[in-house]
Formats: sequence, C-alpha cells, structure tokens
Amino acid sequence: METKRIVIEDREHADDSQLKEAAWILRSGGLVAFPTETVYGLGANALNEEAARKIYAAKGRPSDNPLIAHISDFSELDQLVREIPKAGKILMEAYWPGPLTLIFPKSSKVPYGTTGGLDTVAVRMPSDPTARKLIALSGVPVAAPSANTSGRPSPTTADHVWEDMNGKIDMIVDGGPVGIGVESTIVDVTEEIPVLLRPGAVTLEMLKELLGEVKIDPAILGPLKDGLRPKAPGMKYRHYAPKADLTLVELSDETRLQLHNLDSRLYKETVKAMKEAGCSKDLTPEEFCLANHVKIMGEEALAQGKSTGIICTDETRNQYNHGLIRSMGLRSKEETLAHNLYGVLREFDDLNVDCIFSESFSEDSLGQAIMNRLSKAAGYKILKV
Ligand code: TXA
Ligand code: MG
Repeated sequence: METKRIVIEDREHADDSQLKEAAWILRSGGLVAFPTETVYGLGANALNEEAARKIYAAKGRPSDNPLIAHISDFSELDQLVREIPKAGKILMEAYWPGPLTLIFPKSSKVPYGTTGGLDTVAVRMPSDPTARKLIALSGVPVAAPSANTSGRPSPTTADHVWEDMNGKIDMIVDGGPVGIGVESTIVDVTEEIPVLLRPGAVTLEMLKELLGEVKIDPAILGPLKDGLRPKAPGMKYRHYAPKADLTLVELSDETRLQLHNLDSRLYKETVKAMKEAGCSKDLTPEEFCLANHVKIMGEEALAQGKSTGIICTDETRNQYNHGLIRSMGLRSKEETLAHNLYGVLREFDDLNVDCIFSESFSEDSLGQAIMNRLSKAAGYKILKV
C-alpha cells in the first residue's frame, strides 16, 4: 500500500480542507497516523471492528492489548460508556482535553475488537488542535495506539512514524514534533479507589490533589511477579525496547547518604574532583558522582570493543568524552527529558550500538513517567552504585 504524507505547517491552526481526506479515510475504515500532544497515534474508526483489526496488523500488536478511543468533544463520550463514575467526572473536568486517559465501563456500541475483549473502554480527549479537528471531521471516535511497530519506542515525530509505518497505512499527517513526548496518564475510574495504570504528564501528585486516595498498579513499579497481571494489558509487554542492551545507573541510598554528609570521605573526594574538573556551581555532588559512574562503565565497555552509547543530561554532558554521547535534556527541566526520551532511544537504534549506559532520574512528578519508560526499556536492569 502506498502511504500518503501530508504536512500541516501550523498544528494550532490546521484548516479543514487540509484534513478532509484524512477524516474521510478514518470514516471509511482506513488507517491514519496523526500527532497528539503526547506521541503520534495510529488512528482508525473505534466503532468498526474491522478497522481496529487493521491497527493490530500494521503494528504487529497482540490483539489482547486494547486501544484508546479518542474523542474531540465531551458530547461524544456518552455513546462509548455505560456510566461515568464520580472520579471520572472530576478528572475529565480538570484535565480534558489533555494527556489523560480514563477507563470506563464500555457501552454495547464499542466492539470487543477495540477493547481487546474487555468490558471497559479507555477514552481520551487530546488537547492537540490538529488531532481534535481530525477526530471532529471524521465524525467517529478514533481508536489510536501509539503509531510505532509493537516493541519499538513510541514515535514523537512524523519521521519516526514513517520509519515504522510506511507502506502499511493509508496516510500520515505530519504536524512536526509532538510536545510532551511520553504517552498519556491512564487512570481506571471503575474501581472504588481510582487506580493509576500508566504514569504520564498528569502526575500522581496532580491526581491525588483532586481525588485524595489513588492506588498504583504494581506493573508501574517494577517487573511483575509470576502470576500477577497488570490491569492495562499493554504494560505487560517489554515496551519501548531499544535494540541495544540498556543499563540504568542509579545512586544507592548509602551513596546518597554519604554525599549528604559533609564529613564523609566520598563527599570530600567528590567535591575535590568537581573543583579539579572545573564543574559549574549548579552541578550537585550527586549528579557528578552518578555521571562519573556512568562514564566509567561506558569506558569499560568501550575497552571491551563494544560500541557504546551514553545517555546523560545537559548538566553532565561535559563530563563525558568517549562513546556516542546523547543528552536527554535538562535534569532541572523534566519536560525536556520527557520530550527527548524516545527520540534518543530511536537514535541509538539507528546507530546500532551494542550497549547503552544511562543516568537515572528522580521519580517525582513527571519523573515517574520518565523512569517508568526507561526502566521498561532497560528490561528493569538498574545498577545501584
Ligand atoms: O498518549 C497516548 O495515550 C497515545 C496517544 C496516541 O493518544 N496512545 C497510546 O496508546 O499510548 P497505546 O495503545 O500505545 O497504549 C494504550 C494503553 C495500553 O497499555 C493498553 O493496555 C491500555 O492503554 N488500555 C487500553 N484500554 C484499556 C482498558 N480498557 N483497560 C485497561 N487498560 C487499557
Ligand atoms: Mg504504545
């Protein structure tokens, strides 16, 4: 199949005529990839089982992994859901349109082919103006997983989508790079106490502020013990897997404690090394120490003849001089880290490195989403130093 690519110069102000053909393809059962504020989505008519089946085929995705139905207006929700629990109402009012997906009991109109056989349906109203306009013009709710081949990092540019989907789908709407860079937060509001199934830009802290108590699905925190099943079926797969062997490096509690004790030998040595290296005053001993460990591991791998990638931050970039070094952004500005995460992983795929060593990040607020995706990409290989 030939994949058509159309370019939207200004995503804030796409005009109807540019999106008419894409909307027509969606309405008539075809596949269109489009930008959202989180990642690019691969859209199909959510009420058409045959169209949903095409999504699974194009992505090579297991068919028990349900899709998110995207809407453009609150009025489109009723047809999809049997009821709207109170927590759902509160969250919709606060964060829709935006990077938040809610799980509701599904209506009979939503086919099991869209929900992977579940009696619940995931719904999201994206804030991206082009996405919303396209959904509105199509006149149907749009099922859209991330527009990557199953198992690859989610696409944050139209070129990423092209790499994975060219020849497999009808059209790509190229609106340039997305804003957030990690997928939406998912919250199950069908339970007595709402459950966070996937962390994203609407953070746990933000959810708790509105809802009080929020449970966290164990699949978010680490590998699941045998026999346990995540509530979001997609969280059980080794998602976001780069081709290289990725190791995340993290400071242990003991090391942190020492670095906070001004009398400890480690603290004194670190500060001395930082002075000798002429580090900026903004760099903390913890950041310096972590980068130093990543650097040493990278150099050891290089010495073994491995092609080696390093994931660092703008703050620590100058500490490294060997290997293929990529900064994810500013540690002090988490949005930049989320924005660049998948692009950096894809770049290393293209560079065909054997192994990657990455600095780890704080798990507060947006950091929870960043560390969730990175730890999964690493197959939970996290080295404490
Ligand atoms: O930001 C996003 O959410 C992007 C953009 C395109 O909107 N979409 C996205 O879709 O990330 P996908 O298919 O890559 O991830 C959907 C996740 C999967 O982990 C899936 O298992 C879960 O949502 N999910 C969907 N329906 C569900 C349901 N009824 N119950 C529990 N989890 C569900
Ligand atoms: Mg995905």
